[in-house]
Amino acid sequence: MLKLGVLASGRGSNLQSIIDAVEAGEIEAEVKVVISDNENAQALERATKHQIEAQYVGPEDYSTSNGFEQAIIDQLERYDVELVILAGFMKLLSPYFIKYYQNRIMNIHPSLLPAFKGLHAQQQALDYGVKVAGCTVHFVDQGMDTGPIILQAVVPVKEDDTEDSLATRILEEEHKVYPEAVKLYAEDKLEIEGRKVIIKR
Ligand code: GAR
Repeated sequence: MLKLGVLASGRGSNLQSIIDAVEAGEIEAEVKVVISDNENAQALERATKHQIEAQYVGPEDYSTSNGFEQAIIDQLERYDVELVILAGFMKLLSPYFIKYYQNRIMNIHPSLLPAFKGLHAQQQALDYGVKVAGCTVHFVDQGMDTGPIILQAVVPVKEDDTEDSLATRILEEEHKVYPEAVKLYAEDKLEIEGRKVIIKR
């Protein structure tokens, strides 16, 4: 059974959607450990509630970011994690980390990439005046929000949308596409060819 490790910095609603899909038997995988760089992350509470190992790794406890990342890798190794899931993890990972788990790290981003990378993607979409927004699940490469795209979902932008209302509408889709992408990976249906992810149906 595929062993998952989830990195999350905050609320953890995407983590929850994956836990729920695993518990419902929709994904042949096991969430072995949840790691957060934020001691108070709700994600850690969610893990504990589901009898999943919850580990806080505090960046301030390490003098270098390499040391901090190594501590995360050590935890992931300890649980033999095969696929690393970034679920609202707000720290950029170094090329070393990304190479270590090459093609084995997924991220979700609340925009239709390659538009609106980085922070406040939903506000960026509103400011730009796009008529549709959405979310993207992708493999992580060394750029920020640039890796090969696995799945995307589209939502309409309404004229009276605020950052919050749009984020809420996008989040509903995030909770569907992220478990779906993990399921496809667990079933060995994802093949990376350059920038493209081929889904073997
Ligand atoms: C989600 O909207 C996710 O797409 C976004 O943070 C939120 C985390 O929510 N991630 C990024 O912006 C990454 N650049 P959650 O903690 O409830 O899953």
